[in-house]
Amino acid sequence: MSKLACLGGKPIRTARWPDWPVWDEREIKALESVVRSGGWGRLYENSRVAEFEQKFAGYQDAKFGVAVTSGTAALTVGLKAVGVDIGDEVIVPGYTFIATATAAVQNNAVPVFVDVDLGTLNIDPDAIEAAITPRTRAIVPVHWAGRAADMDRILAIAARHKLAVVEDACHGWGASWKGRKLGAIGDLGAVSFQASKHMSAGEGGIILTNDEDLAAKCFSYHHIGRIAGRPFYEHHLIGWNFRMTEFQAAVLLVQLERIEDQAQRREENAVFLSRQLAGLDGISLLRREPYMTRIAWHSFRFLYDERAFGGVPRDAFVAALKAEGIPAGHGYSHPLYKNPVFAEQRFGRLVEHIRFPDYAGMALPNCERLCRESVTIGQTCLLGMRDDMQDIADAIRKVKAHAHELAGKPAEALP
Ligand SMILES: Cc1ncc(COP(=O)(O)O)c(C=O)c1O
Repeated sequence: MSKLACLGGKPIRTARWPDWPVWDEREIKALESVVRSGGWGRLYENSRVAEFEQKFAGYQDAKFGVAVTSGTAALTVGLKAVGVDIGDEVIVPGYTFIATATAAVQNNAVPVFVDVDLGTLNIDPDAIEAAITPRTRAIVPVHWAGRAADMDRILAIAARHKLAVVEDACHGWGASWKGRKLGAIGDLGAVSFQASKHMSAGEGGIILTNDEDLAAKCFSYHHIGRIAGRPFYEHHLIGWNFRMTEFQAAVLLVQLERIEDQAQRREENAVFLSRQLAGLDGISLLRREPYMTRIAWHSFRFLYDERAFGGVPRDAFVAALKAEGIPAGHGYSHPLYKNPVFAEQRFGRLVEHIRFPDYAGMALPNCERLCRESVTIGQTCLLGMRDDMQDIADAIRKVKAHAHELAGKPAEALP
């Protein structure tokens, strides 16, 4: 095997990875028809947004869908709809995207960060249980990287303590738990169609639920307090304008036609890549629990142990992989609670009224470890061919075989 590409050797690959987003003439025609129709904002009749809500909810095994502008909006509205209010506590994982937690603060509530399971990257049910107080109102399990959280245990805890469950299915839609798609297994769930997600309209989101009352509440909150069937200028609650446009829905309706094929391709590739990497010392693959009946593979993740790679730090390993032509990354470099917004409690005057935990002093062991050891390969790579997966595995083995050449070289020193 030639020397490492980051040290001047020949890279494992120079070929392109699959383009993203995937689109063709159908998206152009769909957008053109919205432009020509003049009905650009959400319509009351013959609305593509309403059609998309119905189709996507059906695809996700949910009775109702309320399309919104983003996953962040879906979480914010969802927490409001289940009754999260001033000073309530909302339990969230410490290793997640900012919106999972800021949605609570947007509702004047307190995010309570708990640890995750290193084998699944999902919220640890024991940690949830330990964090419950009389102020706890909701749990937000994130189906991380498209892998179902342990919903049996989470639903049982929620039922015992009378808590709402708002699923963050922003990565997880398309995946299933015991054969049921994610998002409407708890009270409701939030989905994102932001540009990196496995179906996108640039931005966008949807709330999923099986509860008609919650669906009506979400509809009203996202529609500045309007109620379906009531006069246009009659507003019933303090809501937001989080309406999806007809442009977004037109694109998403086309994207929906491709997602089964794409999901199968990702699954086949991820299974193949997992087999190639299984047993490789220093690479820990995630557990596939029996309840994860389908994984959506929002990303392919593993944990990296530098001790098996001659002490090469994770970031140098990732840089070496990139030089080999593999678009690897490491995800979050610090847990969510270490972001300035939490660590310094930048919540405006809310801090005068509500007591927040000492986020700066927190250190959840698994979240901290993940930020040091996680390696990620994005979902778009998984749309490649089997040979592309082989390139990923070969590059990892090559870096391992040559790890001694990287000794003492910090990631920043590598091209
Ligand atoms: C886990 C998670 N939750 C919520 C969101 C928010 O979604 P959006 O970017 O559509 O607001 C994201 C988006 O990246 C996410 O990864």
